[in-house]
Amino acid sequence: MTDTPSYGFDTLQVHAGARPDPATGARQTPIYQTTAYVFRDAEHAAALFNLQEVGFIYSRLTNPTVAVLQERMATLEGGAGAVCCSSGHGAQIMALFPLMAPGCNVVVSTRLYGGTVTQFSQTIRRFGWSAKFVDFDDEDAVRAAIDDDTRAIFCESIANPGGYITDLDAIGKIADDAGLPLIVDNTSATPYLCRPIEHGATLVVHSLTKFLTGNGTVTGGVVVDSGKFDWSASGKFPSLSEPEPAYHGLKFHETFGPLAFTFHGIAIGLRDLGMTLNPQAAHYTLMGIETLSLRMRKHCENAERVAGWLEGHEAVKAVTYAGLPSSPWHDRMSRICPKGAGGIFTVALRDGYEACVKFVDSLELFSHVANLGDTRSLVIHSASTTHRQLTPEQQEAAGAAPDVVRISIGIEDADDLIRDLDQALAKSARSAAA
Ligand SMILES: Cc1ncc(COP(=O)(O)O)c(C=O)c1O
Repeated sequence: MTDTPSYGFDTLQVHAGARPDPATGARQTPIYQTTAYVFRDAEHAAALFNLQEVGFIYSRLTNPTVAVLQERMATLEGGAGAVCCSSGHGAQIMALFPLMAPGCNVVVSTRLYGGTVTQFSQTIRRFGWSAKFVDFDDEDAVRAAIDDDTRAIFCESIANPGGYITDLDAIGKIADDAGLPLIVDNTSATPYLCRPIEHGATLVVHSLTKFLTGNGTVTGGVVVDSGKFDWSASGKFPSLSEPEPAYHGLKFHETFGPLAFTFHGIAIGLRDLGMTLNPQAAHYTLMGIETLSLRMRKHCENAERVAGWLEGHEAVKAVTYAGLPSSPWHDRMSRICPKGAGGIFTVALRDGYEACVKFVDSLELFSHVANLGDTRSLVIHSASTTHRQLTPEQQEAAGAAPDVVRISIGIEDADDLIRDLDQALAKSARSAAA
């Protein structure tokens, strides 16, 4: 499929970017397990290296299987182009890389995946970059955090683990007023539930590892570019607007227009940082995406039932699921992700940390793993694992306090999940009483 504006989501998730293999007619996208591609002649090779002709040179940069996934993700998000990377964390660095320079900062939400909090509060400082953490419900604070050195604003659409929903329209307006790109991590929502570009996002990043592949077989990431940001307007993004010395003085924005960020990501980002997605991972992810909407509908339906049941249980202090009418984010959900609040939420237990540990250890159908977005239901105690490197204040702000367990609801029978949760809660209550 090439020009597909009128197809619905369920059709695009199966077809976008893919066509029968021109060499063999293979209907499923083949895994092009090759490192390099034969040039027609020296002139062809030079044209490819000069970016005058689009084609395949070397699989660190581009690969036909990965290219199908890139086109599919750009289509599903409503973007102009996409660059796949070796992980979700890689995608975050790849999104910031063309925008930042030593001394620059990014204004970020306090409600982020714990690994992202660490990446932004610690690791990026080695590049001379920094992050300012702000409560994104305090719009004045977001505005106040922006200064002359700010180059982007970053948040998650549905935040991991707390299921908090960011008011993307409000943050998109702040970014727009400041002339800054808004980067949205849409991992927990997926483009089926939320399309951040429609709410003002410039770039959308994903961990492909989660719901998009959907079965715990892949580590991967992607950056989707809306193609809508004017990289030349403010002079703040010279790597895109000015002659780029790392690509013999090419002006990416002037040359590629709405595809400037995508070309930069491949020609410089993947070339020099090397965070490339392998073709086999792209193949598994493409197969996962074919059933994305079916799975997300079931994840949401199950999560709503299980969260509602947990909310009424005597051992439970609170459930954060935005799909519950009691959630402070319920109204926001109908605007930002009207088809559902996703499959992840947290549950706080009245008997605190020890009860959480006993609860997690007692579950039988749920798997205790550091992952989310699988067909299988998963559970983890965030404070002692994924959010362990954070201070108590950061854990609280991220929705990962010590009395909280994160649940990723799969696509099994909801009754079976509830039965398992019930027996584990009973065991954890008995051990607290002993
Ligand atoms: C919301 C979110 N973003 C990004 C990541 C990082 O993704 P990856 O593990 O693929 O690097 C994760 C991982 O759990 C995540 O939950």
